[in-house]
Amino acid sequence: MSGFRYVGGELCCEEVSLARLAAEHGTPLYVYSANAVRENYRRLSGAFAPLKPLICFAVKANFNLSVLRLLREEGAGFDIVSGGELYRALRAGADPARIVFAGVGKTDAELSEALKAGVGWVNLESADEAARLNALAAAQGQRATVALRLNPGVDPATHHHIRTGGAGSKFGIPVAEALALAAHWSDFPALDLRGAHLHIGSQVPNAAPTLVAIEIALGFMRQVPGLTTLDLGGGFPVAYRESDNFPPIEAFAATLVERLRPLAGQYHFHLEPGRYLVANSGAMVTTVQAVKDVAGRRTLVVDAGMQTLLRPALYDAYHRAAPLEGTEGAETVTTDVVGPICESADVLARERALPRLRPGGQLALLDAGAYGFAMASQYNSQPRPAEVLVDGSQARVTRRRERYEDLVELEEVQETRELGTQRTEGFEGAPWQWEDDGAIARQARRGKGYNGEKGVRGAGRE
Ligand SMILES: Cc1ncc(COP(=O)(O)O)c(C=O)c1O
Repeated sequence: MSGFRYVGGELCCEEVSLARLAAEHGTPLYVYSANAVRENYRRLSGAFAPLKPLICFAVKANFNLSVLRLLREEGAGFDIVSGGELYRALRAGADPARIVFAGVGKTDAELSEALKAGVGWVNLESADEAARLNALAAAQGQRATVALRLNPGVDPATHHHIRTGGAGSKFGIPVAEALALAAHWSDFPALDLRGAHLHIGSQVPNAAPTLVAIEIALGFMRQVPGLTTLDLGGGFPVAYRESDNFPPIEAFAATLVERLRPLAGQYHFHLEPGRYLVANSGAMVTTVQAVKDVAGRRTLVVDAGMQTLLRPALYDAYHRAAPLEGTEGAETVTTDVVGPICESADVLARERALPRLRPGGQLALLDAGAYGFAMASQYNSQPRPAEVLVDGSQARVTRRRERYEDLVELEEVQETRELGTQRTEGFEGAPWQWEDDGAIARQARRGKGYNGEKGVRGAGRE
C-alpha cells in the first residue's frame, strides 16, 4: 500500500484529496500517509519476526516528529547519526535504550550527549572514535555499549553515492583492522564491545550482497569473544519506477532469516531501515507556473524544485509524476518537469508522458517520503514547504510552511548585535520583520534602509 490512489478522478492520500490539501495549505507541499507508514513497519517487522530484531528507524530518511512518533507507537527504536537526530528522537518520546548511534564523524559533543542520554548502542567507525568515546565515558563515570561498524568490502549494485560497504568507502573499519582493534580492547576500559554493525548501502537491489557481508561479519564475531549482537543496517529497496523489479520485503528478509535463524539463540539482531518504511508514504505536491517549449519538448516550470526534492538532481533519482486531476484516457505528451532554481540540475522529472497541464495545474511527485523533505533546503531563499500527515479522513499540518522571517531569523540576530541601536534609525517599525503592510517597500521607496541596487535590506546602513 502506498496510501495514494485516484478516487473518482482525484488523486487522494488515503481519504483526503490532494487538490483540497493544496488549496488549503498551498504548494509545494509534502503529504504523508500514516497508514502506509504503519503498514510498511508491520510488513517489515513481520518478515523479520523469526529473528526478533530491534527495528531502529533511520531518522535521516524522514525526521518529522509526527512520523517519528508514529513509528515509536508501532514499536520502533531509532537509528541516529547526529546530536540533532538524538534530540529529535528524544522529543518524539524514544526510549534511549532503543537508540543506536551510527555515523562516521561523531563529535565529542555528540558522543557526550549520547552518553548523558543513555543511548543503547554506539556504532563506532574508527579507532580514534573508540578512544574519544572511552575518554568521555571515563570522565563522565559511565560505560557505553558499542558495536564496531565493519567495512566488509562488499559493494552492492546501487547508485555510487549510496554505496557504503566497498573497500574505498569512508564508512566502517576494514575487518582486519577491526580484529586488531578488538584484540586490544583493554585500551578502552569504559567501553563494552558487544556487537558488529553492517550497512552496505541504500537501495540494495537484492539480499545477495547483504548475505555476503553477513558471512564476513559472522566470521568477525566468531573471532571476538563477548559479542552478542549483529546490526544488519538498512538499505531495503523501494520500487520508484514502474519497471523496478526488486524482491518484496518478505522475500528479501526470508533469505537473511534462513541464514540467521539458527543463530537466533546466540545473537540478537538490529535493523536500521529508513527508506523502506517511509518512501512510498509521501508525495510532494506542486503547481505549474509556466509552460515552455524547450528544444521541442513540453516543459512544465513548477513551484517545487531541487530545493524541495533534491534526489533527482543529486542521484538522478526517479519519482513518478502524477497529475492531481485524473487523466485516464487523456492524450499525453512527452514532458519535462523543472523547478525555479537557477541551476540546470534543477529537473524533477524528464521525458514523462503527461497530459497537457497548464499554469495552475497540479501534480504530485510520488514516493517522496524518504530523503525528500529531509534533504530540502532554502537554496535561492525558498522557504521550505509545509508537511501534512493524513490518517484516514483526517489531515493535520505537522510542520508549518516556512515564512520569509524564517529565512533571515538567524542572520537578523547577528545583524542586530552588530548594528546596535543604529538599526532602528529612520524606521517606523522593525525593518527586520517582513510585514505584509508594505513597510519595507515604503522604506525602500523613500530610499531609507534598503539598498535597492544590491538587493540587500540593510537596516539604516546608508
Ligand atoms: C548507518 C545507516 N543505517 C541505515 C541507513 C538507512 O538506509 P535506508 O534508508 O536505505 O534503509 C543508512 C542510510 O544512509 C545508514 O547510513
